[in-house]
Amino acid sequence: MNRQRMVVGISGASGFIYGMRLLQLLAELNIESHLIISRAALLTMAHETDYKLADVTALASHYHRADDVAAGIASGSFRCLGMVVAPCSMRTLAEIANGTSSGLIGRAADVTLKERRTLVLMARETPLTLAHLRNMTAVTEMGGIIAPPVPAFYARPESLAQMVDHSLGRVLDLFGLDSGTAQRWREHQGSCGSELARESVGTVAITAE
Ligand SMILES: Cc1cc2nc3c(=O)[nH]c(=O)nc-3n(C[C@H](O)[C@H](O)[C@H](O)COP(=O)(O)O)c2cc1C
Repeated sequence: MNRQRMVVGISGASGFIYGMRLLQLLAELNIESHLIISRAALLTMAHETDYKLADVTALASHYHRADDVAAGIASGSFRCLGMVVAPCSMRTLAEIANGTSSGLIGRAADVTLKERRTLVLMARETPLTLAHLRNMTAVTEMGGIIAPPVPAFYARPESLAQMVDHSLGRVLDLFGLDSGTAQRWREHQGSCGSELARESVGTVAITAE
């Protein structure tokens, strides 16, 4: 295998842009991407973005129809780093948790789990029902990783794009890939850390006066 490969599923949860941006980051990292988009995700794409399907598939190395269960990525013999579902709807989560794949996203995820490769689900819903939570537990018990797209405010995001990039950077970390988009806590000592230290020194000084 020459290039490293990753499967990307985009399902119909809010946050279509996570899947799109993930494809861009994988291309920058020279990772071959294999994209599947659910029918519902075409609706979220239309509601949430101005992009067309062709804009999205152009970002992927390979695009597979969601009903093409004969695609190479439907087999465990397809070697790859693993799979990310970004974003992951509660329906797709339930399907993966129960191993009842009805299309290529579910099948590729099932294969990722059975081959003990890394499966990351950017599960998106709020609030959560007991069924959602139980399905997340089941996926975790099978070795999958639930990584909801939750913003990290310590990164001081100034735009949605920065929030998206941070979450995706942390997802790519799970594969040992450094996209350079995750703000790392106290990586650069002297900004946040030393400011807090200076503030506390100042407080001590005021108290002493
Ligand atoms: C604009 C829009 C936003 C949606 N947001 C969510 C969401 O955040 N989470 C979720 O689980 N489902 C959400 N849904 C519902 C799913 O699209 C729906 O359950 C669908 O059947 C999921 O199918 P899929 O898992 O095959 O993509 C949303 C639907 C639309 C149209």
